[in-house]
Amino acid sequence: MLNKKSVDDINVKGQRVLVRCDFNVPLKEGQITDENRLVAALPTIKKLIADGGKVILCSHLGKPKGEPKPELSLAPVAVRLSELLGQEVKFAADPEVVGPNAKAAVAAMQDGEVVLLENTRYRAEETKNGEAFSKDLASLADVFVNDAFGTAHRAHCSNVGVTEYVDTAVVGYLMQKEIDFLGNAVNNPVRPFVAILGGAKVADKLNVISNLLEKCDTLIIGGGEVTSSG
Ligand code: 3PG
Repeated sequence: MLNKKSVDDINVKGQRVLVRCDFNVPLKEGQITDENRLVAALPTIKKLIADGGKVILCSHLGKPKGEPKPELSLAPVAVRLSELLGQEVKFAADPEVVGPNAKAAVAAMQDGEVVLLENTRYRAEETKNGEAFSKDLASLADVFVNDAFGTAHRAHCSNVGVTEYVDTAVVGYLMQKEIDFLGNAVNNPVRPFVAILGGAKVADKLNVISNLLEKCDTLIIGGGEVTSSG
């Protein structure tokens, strides 16, 4: 089903592996209130650690609109990920995301270590898929792994632009699982095929809804989608 190369198809021993995760988690007073997205990223991260990669994680968090906003720093994610992994995730605090601090942190990495970069949306180019930031991210990595399924509908530097400037780009386990599942469910459904959509951000899902309407027998929309204006 999956026709993309995955982390199972590469040898990362001694390589710098940039992993795009979706760590866009809800925060309240600096505390993560739902860590599902961190837990979902663990299988890929553990695999890359076990294989001796230098694991450089990156993600966006919220919408800081191209400037450093302390309340949208990924620092709390590094703390919780360290606990979940049982090993230190060094946080590369850096307002430029890929500035001197991040470069130094990556240069000092040993095989099997993990570094988390600062919120990719601290850089204005991120959401414009700009060349300079895409190249900056790629300069940190020998290999790129996209495991940010929740961000797959965006064409940003950290999930799309960066792939232009690395030799090897593959998907992680979370992305693989979702592609396999969705591919089967949508292209080869057992009928009657009922799709249930929830969550918020209706405006982002209008294309999904019109595609699904062509394929499914019944579409049920609930949750925030019913009341949200997008
Ligand atoms: C999400 O939570 O839907 C994804 O992380 C994408 O976030 P975004 O809508 O801010 O791009």
